[in-house]
Amino acid sequence: MVEKYTLSIIKADVGGDVGHSSVHPELLAKADEQLAKAKKDGLIVDYCRGLVGDDTALIMSHEHGVDAPNIHEFAWKTFEAMTEVAQKLKQYGAGQDLLSTAFSGNVRGMGPGVAEMDIEERKAEPLLCFLADKTEPGAWNMPLYKMFCDPFTTAGLVIDPSMHDGFNFEVHDLIEKRKIIFSCPEEAYSMLAFIGAPGRYVIKSVFRKEDGMIAASTSTQRLSLIAGKYVGKDDPVMMVRCQNGLPAVGEALDPFAHAYMVAGWMRGSHHGPMMPVGFEDSTPTRFDGPPRVVCYGFQMANGNFIGPRDMFADVSYDNARAEALWAADYFRKQGPFEPHRLSLEDLEYTTMPKLMEDLKSKWQPEKDE
Ligand code: F6R
Ligand code: MG
Ligand code: MG
Repeated sequence: MVEKYTLSIIKADVGGDVGHSSVHPELLAKADEQLAKAKKDGLIVDYCRGLVGDDTALIMSHEHGVDAPNIHEFAWKTFEAMTEVAQKLKQYGAGQDLLSTAFSGNVRGMGPGVAEMDIEERKAEPLLCFLADKTEPGAWNMPLYKMFCDPFTTAGLVIDPSMHDGFNFEVHDLIEKRKIIFSCPEEAYSMLAFIGAPGRYVIKSVFRKEDGMIAASTSTQRLSLIAGKYVGKDDPVMMVRCQNGLPAVGEALDPFAHAYMVAGWMRGSHHGPMMPVGFEDSTPTRFDGPPRVVCYGFQMANGNFIGPRDMFADVSYDNARAEALWAADYFRKQGPFEPHRLSLEDLEYTTMPKLMEDLKSKWQPEKDE
């Protein structure tokens, strides 16, 4: 019998301990309590509560489908309950990501990040859940491209007949609110023209061409686009299915062996290196960073999360961490100068509009040279 499940990661920052560096154990305990109750009540099949920096991720399996109002409402209420604890403990930015005062059917567009997929659980279902802090959804573009379109990363694209046809990438334009499918490898160069601008074009899902099977899903919510101003960083999540006609676990992890550059460090306004870390090192403090990613690995068994394994707690990422630390020093020496600081266009939701307004009368016309 085919077992069908929905996998949902719904995440939010509802208060930091200390500043924006971590989540207080009492908030995590509240999330655990709510998740355990939801499982007992039969709302969800199973769960794992994830953590990276000041963000809590509710990793859940259930049978209600993608965008299910009851699952989204549960996540929203859990974040509200955590916010109450955060307020009591005067945590920093309590309730920060709950941008709306009341829930209205779906958490999309209300602050929390969401990545979901409907799956038919395979005989063995290895699943990687990536959680990032101090960066934006486009941070997944490069690793997803490498996993599913770059044979120098994924040997299976050349060797495994099930992958040989390639993958379809669903790319979202976060500014114009539209989407497009790129069939890769044929349309890889066209796709790169867009996803190389990760602040605007974001890979939402990846599907195997051979049979249309969904292989990856990401959160694409950008808080500043929802709120119209800077209210904290998006800190995206992503899930990737692996093995047996999909990238091997090691192929899906290999892109993170390079500390590539992402946007989102300090005040959401700086570029910095993406550092893969084990759970122990997931709390950023230097200049509120550098940006980092953890990976929760699971074998799914009848909708249950067998795990997690701490996938980046492996010495083979030590060079990536060293590269990230070196790059962090290099960038930091540049202080407020671009391109360590984001471009003016990217700062439009922060201080720039006000500064421009304040200085308007001081600017004098200048004759052409
Ligand atoms: C939060 C973040 C932090 C804050 C910074 C300033 O996601 O990235 O770097 O932007 O700590 O925070 P405020 O403005 O609240 O003092
Ligand atoms: Mg935060
Ligand atoms: Mg965060």
